[in-house]
Amino acid sequence: MPEFENNTLFPVIDRHHWLNHAAISAWPKPVIEAAQRFVSENQHHGATHYDDWMAQEDALRRLLATFLDAASAEDISLVRNTSEALNIIATGLSWSTGDEVVFPANEFPSNLLPWHALAAQGVVVKPVELSKDAPEQDLIAHITPRTRLVSVSAVQFDTGVRLNLDTIGRAAHEAGALFCVDAIQMLGALPLSTSKLPVDFVVSGSHKWLMAPEGMGFMWSRQSVREQMSVALPGWRMYDDPFNFNRTEWTPPLTGRRFETGTVNMFGVHTLSAAIQLLQALGPMETATALLDRTDHVVDALSQMTQVQLLTPRERARRAGIVCFQVQGTDAECMVNQLASDQIHVARRGHNVRVSPHFFTPKEQIDAFLNRVTDAQWLSACAA
Ligand SMILES: Cc1ncc(COP(=O)(O)O)c(C=O)c1O
Repeated sequence: MPEFENNTLFPVIDRHHWLNHAAISAWPKPVIEAAQRFVSENQHHGATHYDDWMAQEDALRRLLATFLDAASAEDISLVRNTSEALNIIATGLSWSTGDEVVFPANEFPSNLLPWHALAAQGVVVKPVELSKDAPEQDLIAHITPRTRLVSVSAVQFDTGVRLNLDTIGRAAHEAGALFCVDAIQMLGALPLSTSKLPVDFVVSGSHKWLMAPEGMGFMWSRQSVREQMSVALPGWRMYDDPFNFNRTEWTPPLTGRRFETGTVNMFGVHTLSAAIQLLQALGPMETATALLDRTDHVVDALSQMTQVQLLTPRERARRAGIVCFQVQGTDAECMVNQLASDQIHVARRGHNVRVSPHFFTPKEQIDAFLNRVTDAQWLSACAA
C-alpha cells in the first residue's frame, strides 16, 4: 500500500492539521511549482508564449477527459466554477411549462439556485428531502414522465453521504430525464467514470479535493445532449481559431467549447493541469483507498464515543472524504474555533462539525483531532 504522508509533496502538513478539504485545499508542491513557473514566465516574457498556453489549454481538456474516463476531450468545457456550469445547463436546455427538475432539498446552493430560477419559466421545481437510509429511493419516488432533469451532488456537502449515482441515473434515464452530477465533493477524493455511469453532465470546480486554485472549473457533457442545447452565452473564445476576428461564420461549435465564452483563466489552466497530473501519477484507486481508510478510522472512532451522533453513514460505499457529526450538548461553532486555535482545521455546517481529511493526511493528525472530540476542557467551554 503506497504511503502518501509526504510533507515535500504536501507542505501544508508541516504547519496545519488540515481536515477541511471539503472547503478549500492547500496546493501540493507540483501545483505550487506550476504557479511559480507561470509567474516567472509572465515576469520574463509576458504573453509572448501565448501559443504554448493555448496548447496547455488543449492538453488540460485531454487530461480531464482521461481523468473522467471520457470518450473525448471534445466533451470537456472549461468554466469558472461549479455554479457557472450548472447555470449553463439550466439556461441551455429548453424548458416547457410543466417540465420538472428533481434535486435534493439540502444541496449546496450552487445546486439549488439554477433550478429554482427555472420556476419563472413554468418549470415544476421539486426539492426532495433525503432520508438517511434510502436517499436514492427518495429522489426516484419524485421522478415522473414530466421530469426533464435530475441533479445531485455526488457527495452531500453537509452530511457526507455519497449517493449511488448508477441507481439514480438509471431511474432518470428510464423516465426519459437527463442526469446531472455536481462532482466537486467527489473528484480527487474518489474516481468517477463518465463512460460507466448513466450521466449526462458532470461538473466541478478545482479547489477542493483536486487541490488546485479557486476560479477554475470544468464540465463534461454527453455529446447527444450538448448538441441540442442552446448557447446562452455566445463568446469569441469558443471557436477553434479564436483570433480570427474576421470570420463571417459564427455558428457555435458542437464540442464542449460551445459553452466557453471569453478569455480563459490561464493561471487556472496551468495549475489545474499540474494537479490532475499529480493525481493521475499517484493513482486514483490508491489515493481513494488511502482516503477511505482514513474516513473508516474517523467513523469507527467517533461511533465509539457515547456523546457523539454520527450523521455520515458508517458503510464505506456510502461516503467519500467527508464525515459529519454532532457532540450532544455542545456548540459546533465553538468546537471548530477551539480546534482552530491548535491548528486543527475542521468546519461547521449547520449544527454539525464536518471533518474532511485527504488521502495524505498523517494518521497522527487525525488522531490528534479525535482525541480532542471528547476532551473535557472544550466540552465544558463549548457547552450549549
Ligand atoms: C456540493 C458543492 N457544489 C458546489 C460548491 C462550490 O460551487 P462553486 O464552484 O460554484 O463555488 C460546493 C462548495 O463550495 C459544494 O460543496
